[in-house]
Amino acid sequence: MRPAIGAVAALAALAGATACAPPAAEVGRAFYAANCAACHGADARGVGPAAAGLPRPVPDLTRLAARNGGVFDRNAVMSTIDGYYRRSDPSHPMPEFGATMEGRLVMVETAPGVFTPTPEVLLGLADFLEGLQR
Ligand code: HEC
Repeated sequence: MRPAIGAVAALAALAGATACAPPAAEVGRAFYAANCAACHGADARGVGPAAAGLPRPVPDLTRLAARNGGVFDRNAVMSTIDGYYRRSDPSHPMPEFGATMEGRLVMVETAPGVFTPTPEVLLGLADFLEGLQR
């Protein structure tokens, strides 16, 4: 019984610790307002003040799931925001963000049983965007 009680106490302590930190989606919301809204719009519907004149249309981020058969593909969204694949391609106007993200890393299950250290703000952006899907 003792280890089980210890585990419950540890979980309770963890729950207390996370209650003090802002939820990931809140971290994502703040990062979005500062770094993404200029192009994607404050409401994420693709019409920000910097969207005009870009070589590609700026997508509506509230329809990511709708455009993907109703499924919000968190890994794909995080990969796009990370942007490593765009770095040497000037035809993609969206900046690469992964290289500049600072702060805490969290473990994210990116495939069954595969956990990848991921910037908390990147996970937060995905959570924030998932909450905007319509
Ligand atoms: C300079 C303008 C610009 C900024 C700033 C920008 N984006 Fe983008 N974003 C684009 C454009 C244009 C595309 C279309 C695809 C491309 O360029 O490769 C895009 C594509 C995306 C996609 C993929 C959409 C789809 O339909 O698959 C996501 C997700 C996304 N952006 C999220 C973000 C987030 C989150 C931020 C802030 C961290 C951000 N973007 C900042 C212009 C921008």
